[in-house]
Amino acid sequence: MARTRLAALAAIFGLVAAAGVAGPQAFAQPATAADTERGNGQLGALSGEGGDPALGATVYQQRCASCHDTPTGRTPSKAVIGNNTRAHIADTLIEGVMAPMAAGLTTHERSSVAAYLSTRKTGQAGEVGEDAPLCKAKAPPMSLDGPQWNGWGRTDAQSRFQPNPGFSAAEVPRLKLKWAFAYPGARNGQATVVGGRVFVNAFSGSVYALNARTGCAYWRFDAPAGTRASIVVGRLPAAKGGKARYAVYFTDFTKSAYALDAETGALIWRTRVDDQQEVQMTGSPALHDGRLYVTISSAEEAIAADDKYECCKFRGAVVAVDAVTGKLLWKTYVTPGPAKPFKTNTKGVQMYGPAGGAIWSAPTVDPKRGLIYVATGDSYTDVDFPNADAIMALDARTGAVRWSRAFAQGDNYIVGCYGKFGAGANCPRPAGPDVDFGASPILHTLASGKQVILAGQKSSQVYALDPDAQGKVLWEQRLSTGGPLGGVEFGLAADPTTVYAPVSDVFSQTGHPKPQLTAIRIADGKILWTAVSPITPCAWKNPFCSPALSQAVSASPGVVFAGAMNGHFRAFDAATGKIVWDVDTAAPVTTVAGREAKGGVLDGAGPTIAGGMVYVSSGYQGRSGTPGNVLLAYSVDGK
Ligand code: HEC
Repeated sequence: MARTRLAALAAIFGLVAAAGVAGPQAFAQPATAADTERGNGQLGALSGEGGDPALGATVYQQRCASCHDTPTGRTPSKAVIGNNTRAHIADTLIEGVMAPMAAGLTTHERSSVAAYLSTRKTGQAGEVGEDAPLCKAKAPPMSLDGPQWNGWGRTDAQSRFQPNPGFSAAEVPRLKLKWAFAYPGARNGQATVVGGRVFVNAFSGSVYALNARTGCAYWRFDAPAGTRASIVVGRLPAAKGGKARYAVYFTDFTKSAYALDAETGALIWRTRVDDQQEVQMTGSPALHDGRLYVTISSAEEAIAADDKYECCKFRGAVVAVDAVTGKLLWKTYVTPGPAKPFKTNTKGVQMYGPAGGAIWSAPTVDPKRGLIYVATGDSYTDVDFPNADAIMALDARTGAVRWSRAFAQGDNYIVGCYGKFGAGANCPRPAGPDVDFGASPILHTLASGKQVILAGQKSSQVYALDPDAQGKVLWEQRLSTGGPLGGVEFGLAADPTTVYAPVSDVFSQTGHPKPQLTAIRIADGKILWTAVSPITPCAWKNPFCSPALSQAVSASPGVVFAGAMNGHFRAFDAATGKIVWDVDTAAPVTTVAGREAKGGVLDGAGPTIAGGMVYVSSGYQGRSGTPGNVLLAYSVDGK
């Protein structure tokens, strides 16, 4: 039961389609009714919305007061708990350390306790000193010059390559932990480095500006809901006679995009970019030429495992927002039109389609052609549509679809349906193979000046596409059997000549999973080397103690950094694939706040490299089920 429930929740809160469902052995049973409440369900709770404080008070008395009214040892007092956002308390009860204490409570009861307990104000700057010591020295002036990793892929070409890391490849074996920061919440965004600061965000809704070298804090902003897509920083036009201002952009699970003042954390604008149910905001926004591009993904693929759920209506989308004003400029859906009723499921519940096409990853900007590229996920019903599992090129100014190329046909899939005829009443027939694109496309320029689009799919296929021929395939390589939680999940990295593809394969339908890192020559698709991800023990005992390379990888000259689900963060020699550095990120560390913390599973947001430092997030509590979620900052000799 515990394992099934964990698995179901991991599926709901993980990168659902890019994670999808695992093999039948782990995810055979559909999620319980409590896991899949409709409407403002699990994700609603994580958005900090809904919840009835009066009901929450009753639940608290019955289920929590015995420990939290008379706190001893590690138990925090009611007042201390209250200092967290609603989203964080709800998250603790749904997938965090208090999930066992909340067993049997409905989602509504959990969000009600959170609404009753939380006293923290959201939508404004908060008291950061409790999470990290305040910086004693004044912050350096904000600037877009200097070392940086700005947004998901360092630049909006999304290469995940740092040409100027601030250390040599030969120094990488000497990387040591310089500082650590404990995130509140079960998952987090990726570190963004700009202007001597590292901007990070957590599933508690908190966004932080920390000193990039020391981890001391400048400010914290509390969004009402979980935030896990990475932050991007840009310059705002200066007021007349005033100095330049810089904005920090991010999204949260209230389906909103935000701009904050990068120096103070003050809110500049907030815009709700979508109004569908159970929306997740997993893809990081991209910023270019005054427009913020935001992608929309969904948990409906997991929620539809409930036979009573009217599957499915979600439509993946891209939204462009004016970066200065927050005004919505355009929105383009992945599916051809709103879902319509098409049949009843095997339990007589109405079904709708087409649905799906979640966009899990960040958009990629092509300024030369005036396009943005997005990578889409699967379809949720038997009603096929052309843009599922596709790379789409949209006009950056209008959102019009210029071309779209799909890489699977009939990939109709929801969680729990693996195998041709899954038991769930909403399962498409046949179902699968669940081969979303979870990773951002990379726009790569070869030495010749010729550009290619690199893409990696959960099928484990890696492609080079021609941006001058509507995405025509120049080469492709298949690295394993792929499938749910398989193949390329969160992200490829590309240096000037080579693309590095991590293979997850937590489970493999053939029984031959191949967690590995593969280097492919971009010019012609030749495989240069394959490094098998070593099997190592971990403290957590679920299927996510795996050598799977699901987390996005990153590169700097001569080195590729890759994190495995078993907690090992490694550097591979870019020429040979040999492991040159290996740390266990699950080991206990002392945080900048002076507390003991530890990481765990490495998944989702990947390493970032800038200014002589390498940052990685470890924990992803929703996967391992064990507490601990930290940002680890490494430098040569820890100096
Ligand atoms: C049997 C005792 C017990 C009960 C009952 C209990 N808790 Fe806890 N709670 C703890 C302990 C111990 C910790 C500290 C856990 C740790 O540090 O690993 C904790 C931690 C927490 C935290 C902080 C978690 C974090 O990561 O910030 C929250 C929030 C919380 N509890 C809420 C609740 C709520 C709400 C209930 C009722 C539904 C509840 N607890 C029931 C013992 C209990």
